[in-house]
Amino acid sequence: MHRRFIVPSAIAASLLLAIPASAAEGTVGAPGIGDPYYPASGNGGYDVSHYDLRLKYQPSTDLLEGTATILATTTQELTRFNLDFGLEVSEVRVNGKKAGHVKNGEQELEITPAAPLAKGRSVSVVVRYAGKPSEVKINGWTSWVRTPDGAVAAQEPESAAWWYPSNDHPLDKATYDISVSVPDGTQAISNGTLQSQSSKLGWTRFNWRSAQPQATYLTTLAVGKFDITTDTTSDGLPVVNAYSKDLGANAGAARASIERTAEVAEWLTGIFGPYPFDALGGYSPNVTSGFALETQTRPFYSPKQFANGSNVSVVVHELAHQWYGDSVSLKGWKDIWVNEGFARYSQWLWSEKEGEGTAQELADYTYALHPADAPFWEVKPGDPGPDNQFDAAVYDRGAMALQALRNELGDETFFALLKGWPAEHVHGNASVSDFVTYAERVSGKPLAALLDAWLFRAERPAAPAAAGAHA
Ligand code: ARG
Ligand code: ZN
Repeated sequence: MHRRFIVPSAIAASLLLAIPASAAEGTVGAPGIGDPYYPASGNGGYDVSHYDLRLKYQPSTDLLEGTATILATTTQELTRFNLDFGLEVSEVRVNGKKAGHVKNGEQELEITPAAPLAKGRSVSVVVRYAGKPSEVKINGWTSWVRTPDGAVAAQEPESAAWWYPSNDHPLDKATYDISVSVPDGTQAISNGTLQSQSSKLGWTRFNWRSAQPQATYLTTLAVGKFDITTDTTSDGLPVVNAYSKDLGANAGAARASIERTAEVAEWLTGIFGPYPFDALGGYSPNVTSGFALETQTRPFYSPKQFANGSNVSVVVHELAHQWYGDSVSLKGWKDIWVNEGFARYSQWLWSEKEGEGTAQELADYTYALHPADAPFWEVKPGDPGPDNQFDAAVYDRGAMALQALRNELGDETFFALLKGWPAEHVHGNASVSDFVTYAERVSGKPLAALLDAWLFRAERPAAPAAAGAHA
């Protein structure tokens, strides 16, 4: 989705007479990609294909320094364009030549190449930068969390702007090479495969590669002292898990859960179809936050997820996102249900398999938990608003919606949908309305009314009837 300012031709003609073409307003890239929930996220005028990040991080001072090389293709003529970034930039080059750069606000880096870029040309952008990411505030906060022995970047819907410049929106996915140098004895964990690591002059460099398209917020970095386990799945994919040496009493439960990654991925493959990436794993750093995040190929798990013992359910949730959220990414942040509704429903399917309650029982239980007048029902999972993106309703009402759909369609068609959708949009983007259209096409049934009641109404729908009960 790329925007272009539309200038009536008569005005455009007079502008061209008045000022040189290189300064014409019509060729400036938009400062946002057009997401109404987050107008500053992403940018217009180009598509990134690859990020190469070569970084160095010193945990004792929180100094992050490095060079980002971004490969992109212009989608319009550009006299100027933006990257989303919060740290201090010392130099920008576009196609090898020094470019003008100025910070506009907290997260917009405006870049003016030496000469305008034609539409449809490939571009390399080199950004040299340094800063202390924990001290850089954008909209009053930083996603970068320091730990006793390092730091972690893992957040949703945004985490990139505190550690690398990007077109920060899931609509523009790209491949990555992430090379991070840290003091000897410390590790750097990121996405994908570890191509190599080597030590020199007291610093160890870790070279990670994500070879499939990856959204900016799913790109993660953790620096610290980790125990790392490596293995290979029966399909030959590398499994790399990393556990902070500082997980305290949760260390055993974290391992007992995350070490089941390959087993869970194999089970999910039976439901969703082929695993979409070339590496697997998970990591648990010594953070004090409580959440988990589906960072691509290598989810982030707060140790608090394991405070009550093993929690394979959260592993199921984050691995389900590898299909629903990571390979098939949302088009706009209002579409968060295509991520969270399905990830939560996968946990219910795991429970069903484990004999801990069927999805129907969990849907009935969850429905009964929230009386008709509870605020829970005021959140619309299909368009929750930026403040309610991660509200329980997106997850639980979102999963109940899928149980209602399962009951409407029967298991054969429902599970065909669960497997068909990740294939239809592999490594792409899709919206809630795309899903409704897809489900109607595959099932041959009108489903708009049912899904509208479950996803787009600020009121409680009829209970998701058990299969056959409404026949
Ligand atoms: N997608 C994540 C999950 O459901 C949610 C992360 C929400 N962010 C947060 N800081 N709690 O696993
Ligand atoms: Zn989730």
